[in-house]
Amino acid sequence: MGFKVVPYIVESEKIPENMDGYRMAVLADLHDCAVGKENQRLLSALRQEQPDGLLVAGDMITEHMGRLSSWLAYRQARALLLELAQDFPVYYAMGNHETRWKKERDGHTYTFERYRRELEAAGVVFLDNLSAVLGNGRQGIRVTGLELPLLYYRKGLRIPKLTGAAIRKLAGPADEEHFQILLAHTPQFFQAYADWGADLVLAGHFHGGLIRLPLVGGLVSTYYRPFPRYDRGRFQKGERQMIVSAGLGTHTIPLRLNNPPELLMLTFRHRG
Ligand SMILES: [Fe+2]
Repeated sequence: MGFKVVPYIVESEKIPENMDGYRMAVLADLHDCAVGKENQRLLSALRQEQPDGLLVAGDMITEHMGRLSSWLAYRQARALLLELAQDFPVYYAMGNHETRWKKERDGHTYTFERYRRELEAAGVVFLDNLSAVLGNGRQGIRVTGLELPLLYYRKGLRIPKLTGAAIRKLAGPADEEHFQILLAHTPQFFQAYADWGADLVLAGHFHGGLIRLPLVGGLVSTYYRPFPRYDRGRFQKGERQMIVSAGLGTHTIPLRLNNPPELLMLTFRHRG
C-alpha cells in the first residue's frame, strides 16, 4: 500500500510573525493499523520531516464493540505514540472510537484510562474538550480538541444538527486573538466549527471515502452516505478553512482503493 506525506501551507495574519515557518504533522484514523512493519514507515517519515509537534485528530485505535480485549488490541497505536512522544510534543484529540472506548468499562483488562495514563506519563497531552497553546511560550497558536457526544456519529440519514453554541458548551469559547485550530475528527459539521470561531479545522474520520473514483472523489463516508462532500483535502468558508485527512488505516471494511494512507504536514505562515 502506498503512503503519502501531504504538505499544506496555512497562512493567516493571525499567525504571529515569530511562528512563521512553524510545522505540525497531523495523524488521523490509524485504527491500530501499521504503516510499514510496526509503523516504521510512519516513524521514519516523521523523523525525516522533523515537525515542531504532532496533532492527533482521533481514531488512533479501534474500539472493539463491547468484545473483551487486552492491551494487544491497542498495541500498534500505543507503541507508536509512546515512541513519538519521546521526540515530539504530541496533542491528542478524541475520535468516536476513543470516546466509545472511554465508555466501555466492564471486563476489559486494558481500559482507556490506563492507555491515557501511560501516554500522559510519556508526555502526550490529551485534548478532550480542552485547549493548549502551541509554540513554547511564543505568542502562540491555540489548539482545541473537540470531543463530540456519540450521537453525532450515528450512521444513516438522521445526523443531528450541531451548532457553534453547542461546541462552546462542550469545549468553551474560541480564542478571538490567537489563530484558533479545532481538532474535530468528523468533518461533517464544518459550518458549526466555523460559527464557533475555528480559523483552521483539522479532521479525518471519512478515510477519504474508502474508495476514490477518478474525477468524482470519495465514494462513501463513514456515516454510510454516498459521495461525501468533505472527503479529503482543503475546504474554505470565507477566512475559515478545514483540512481533511484521508487517514492512515482501515477498520470494519479493510479497504482503501486509489486512496493511499496519508500524513499531513502543515507549515504555518504569517501573512503581513
Ligand atoms: Fe472516526
